[in-house]
Amino acid sequence: MKTALITGATSGIGEACADLFAAQGYHLILVARREHLLKDVAKRLEEKYAIETKTVVADVRIHDDLSYGLETLPAQWKQVDVLINNAGLSQGLDPIDKGNVTDWDTMIDTNVKGLLYVTKIVSNWMISRKSGHIINIGSIAGQEVYPNGNVYCATKHAVDALNKGMRIDLLPHGIKVTAINPGMVETEFSKVRFKGDEGRAKKVYDGLEPLVANDIAEAIWFVVSRPAHVNINDMLIMPTAQATGAIIKRN
Ligand SMILES: NC(=O)c1ccc[n+]([C@@H]2O[C@H](COP(=O)([O-])OP(=O)(O)OC[C@H]3O[C@@H](n4cnc5c(N)ncnc54)[C@H](OP(=O)(O)O)[C@@H]3O)[C@@H](O)[C@H]2O)c1
Repeated sequence: MKTALITGATSGIGEACADLFAAQGYHLILVARREHLLKDVAKRLEEKYAIETKTVVADVRIHDDLSYGLETLPAQWKQVDVLINNAGLSQGLDPIDKGNVTDWDTMIDTNVKGLLYVTKIVSNWMISRKSGHIINIGSIAGQEVYPNGNVYCATKHAVDALNKGMRIDLLPHGIKVTAINPGMVETEFSKVRFKGDEGRAKKVYDGLEPLVANDIAEAIWFVVSRPAHVNINDMLIMPTAQATGAIIKRN
């Protein structure tokens, strides 16, 4: 039986991955901050797929809490086959001169430092077993920059660099590293970006068919289910109606 560790499993892409990996028989370690949602996801998947789960309620930005939550897992749960570094967010959409410093800190601390903290712990578990696959959720925002995307784009460019760096550093240990870079996916992402403003969040997807979280989960499953000698370095997945970060066809 295999185990996947998914950060940001209470919503969107992370939750869709949890569902799909559970359907494939994986045991799951699920990480996020909202405890009630995390427990609901775990219970639902245990009942639906007869798998086992562990939940770690932690903020990936807080190294000591995260480290305690992961390092105190029972030894058999540290045999992680797949790590999905998915927890992440955008805050605000302002030009650089009007940016909110707290928003910048939140994005950098979550998308870059949080991903690093999780990776350091789990890669050591993988190294001791000489196998594993790390999936980093980047973005089209990590491939190009769009107006007012400044700091969010910078964090996802950092994920792209870290993805490449991890692949080099973990090569001697037989660990695969892949970046999955989505375009627009309708999740809680825009609601979080606009701090609960549902109307503004909805407008992002007006007149086009965005990706859904399961589209990304399926791509991740494709990547993970390749033969041992095949690694997909990265994958850019867009809605048909989106050509670049900012060029979108709306009805
Ligand atoms: N949606 C898009 O258009 C899109 C496009 C490209 C890339 N992405 C990337 O895809 C990833 C998933 O986003 P999504 O679209 O699925 O958004 P989402 O529905 O808002 O889900 C984000 C998840 O991350 C978790 N999270 C956020 N901050 C966290 C923290 N400090 N500690 C632990 N968990 C945290 C949230 O859980 P809690 O709130 O419970 O902690 C939630 O489960 C992100 O990295 C995002 O940048 C999204």
